[in-house]
Amino acid sequence: MEGVLFDLDGIITDTAKFHFKAWKQLAQDELNITLPASFESQLKGISRMESMKLILKFANLEDNFSEKEVFQLANKKNELYLREINKLTQADILPGIENLLDALAANRILLSIASASKNAPLILEKLGLLNRFDAIANPENVANGKPAPDIFIEAAHQIGLSPEKCVGIEDAPAGVIAIKKAKAVAVGVGDDAELNEADVVVNKTSNLSYLLLVDTYDKKYL
Ligand code: BG6
Ligand code: MG
Repeated sequence: MEGVLFDLDGIITDTAKFHFKAWKQLAQDELNITLPASFESQLKGISRMESMKLILKFANLEDNFSEKEVFQLANKKNELYLREINKLTQADILPGIENLLDALAANRILLSIASASKNAPLILEKLGLLNRFDAIANPENVANGKPAPDIFIEAAHQIGLSPEKCVGIEDAPAGVIAIKKAKAVAVGVGDDAELNEADVVVNKTSNLSYLLLVDTYDKKYL
């Protein structure tokens, strides 16, 4: 293992609740619908525009808005989301993540962010983690979102590695599929059944460790 490719939302910090809060408010204010709680996990790992389109489809309103209007609605959601994100501090880093980053750096493992979020640099800055990563893949530079492998291939490329040399860490089913398609080794964080395509699953971030990542990688390749 020479590199680790990190998802951000749900792995480094718990922003899923803020994404969903903003989507819920937008759906209520602009579409007059109430999003069911089950939507939260469906939107994990999915880009802003794709999420907006899924919500319009759910509301049976996909033919009522032009592409430009869909974009404007998605922008409104982002404004609501940014209000929450601006309050993030180091205290919002998920348990075990700082220790994991320390151990990986001590072992000279390269670290790259493979997030669908255009807010990734801002979030890392708020958490005080910006200088702990060697690269942040820009989702605007890849053609296809998760579950396509593009962002993980780009994140590996940004640290000069092929994905086969890397472990990817994800909380979203779409993200685990993306890691596997990129041919990296997949570590899932969350529900075993939901993330069954991963090479290993832990139920919370505090169970992640350098040894778990190395062992999972070595089992695959040695
Ligand atoms: C992913 C989240 O990390 O980023 C999704 O899991 C989100 O819920 C996506 O839609 C895009 O984020 P942003 O910050 O660019 O709107
Ligand atoms: Mg995630």
